[in-house]
Amino acid sequence: MQKLLILIFSIVLLFCACVSGGKARNGIVFDPNAYEERTFSAGEKSVRYRAYENIVYVKNPVDTDYQIMNIYIPSAYFSGGQVAGYNARTAPIFFPNAVGGYMPGKPITLADSDGKNVSASAYALLHGFVVASPGARGRTSDVGRAPSCIVDLKAAVRYLRYNDRIMPGDAEKIVSNGTSAGGALSALLGASGNSSDYEPYLRAIGAARTRDDIFAVSAYCPITDLEHADAAYEWEFNGCNDYRKMDITMLDYKVQRTYVTGTLTEDEQSVSSDLKSLFPLYINNLKLVSNGTPLLLNADGNGTFKDAIALLVIDSANKALASGVDMSQYDFLTIENGKVTAVDFDAYIAYRGRQKLPPAFDALDGSSGENNLFGNKMLEFRHFTKYGTEHGKAGIETAETFVIKMMNPLNYSNSTAAVSAKYWRIRHGTKDSDTALAVPFILSSKLEAAGFSVDFAYPWDKTHSGDYDLDELFAWITGLCR
Ligand code: DHB
Repeated sequence: MQKLLILIFSIVLLFCACVSGGKARNGIVFDPNAYEERTFSAGEKSVRYRAYENIVYVKNPVDTDYQIMNIYIPSAYFSGGQVAGYNARTAPIFFPNAVGGYMPGKPITLADSDGKNVSASAYALLHGFVVASPGARGRTSDVGRAPSCIVDLKAAVRYLRYNDRIMPGDAEKIVSNGTSAGGALSALLGASGNSSDYEPYLRAIGAARTRDDIFAVSAYCPITDLEHADAAYEWEFNGCNDYRKMDITMLDYKVQRTYVTGTLTEDEQSVSSDLKSLFPLYINNLKLVSNGTPLLLNADGNGTFKDAIALLVIDSANKALASGVDMSQYDFLTIENGKVTAVDFDAYIAYRGRQKLPPAFDALDGSSGENNLFGNKMLEFRHFTKYGTEHGKAGIETAETFVIKMMNPLNYSNSTAAVSAKYWRIRHGTKDSDTALAVPFILSSKLEAAGFSVDFAYPWDKTHSGDYDLDELFAWITGLCR
């Protein structure tokens, strides 16, 4: 009898070891005990929180430097408490990525925030959000080229949803945030929810088998619609031949920018004119409409599409004027009776300044960051546009159509083959020349036409940056969640 009991006990022990060993290996089950308790303070505000850092969010990672997530949860949610009116069940999940330049991106930590300069993540935590910041592979690694970065963000969303019952925070209220390439990925994540296009990639890395659609998107200056961004750029900057070019490098995971000035050569000017001439056809085929007016361009690049963008620039100038900015310093604006009534578009574009040489993204010599994004394991750089393929230097290949498709939110924003986020907030500064003003405007217009709620603006004189209006950003999110 005693022997039998020992045998049964041993079998039970072995079974438990197998189950828990299985859990530890599978990498997609949240362990509530693997945390460090910390306090974050800024001014009067302070929050105790549990920090879960460097959590691998897939079963079969290929790069554990990046396929990891940092999760910060107010401690009160583990003892039935509330923060800012939210509790463990209702707290939205703020999902900021730190991707820049389509480089590999580490998850955000709260360490960069101090009392004066509160980061978006710290702001979220202080206001009762759960913060889950995903890392993602990027273009400089041969396992990080397109579509790896978006596949990783989707896998991280799936981890949160898979663990929704055992982790505080509401996985049906995931709000993504990012800037530039990170803004583009935030938009792509929001547009392409549950699309089967990404499924083979998600299976390969062992992502949780669940949905990856999200609730809301915040995107600052998204570097997106890469197939058409070259034409959009020249539509805006053609004739503006002096440039201040930026080179992106990475230091300590932070994007570094250096600038070189110059003037377009005659060949470059002719590439600019070629690309500009492609843009009206693209716009007219999109069949965008604003307040009942079709947004179109004639062969010279003028028309209602351009007028709509000019009106948004005027709105932005009026907002700045109302907040007390001296707008008389901008001689491209017409101010009448205390209101900005017109913008001289060409003079404004010259003030904004050309930053990129044509083609701005799909470089003919295949040397751009985006060429690198569309590379693969064997080829570091590839083209991704028809113009680049047809006019580029010999010997550079073009990425597969299905890979190019998977990197553009416009392919999913009004498609029944994806579940797109319902709520969108898109910002692009009027002094930002990393991509055309037209790019975020097209995205916003398409989303609006598809019936989504879109809050779009060009904040006055902001350069290429994000997270500069946290009170407004979080007021917007709070309005959606309460
Ligand atoms: C970023 C900026 C760019 O100009 C670009 O082409 C791609 C990415 C960035 O800051 O992330």
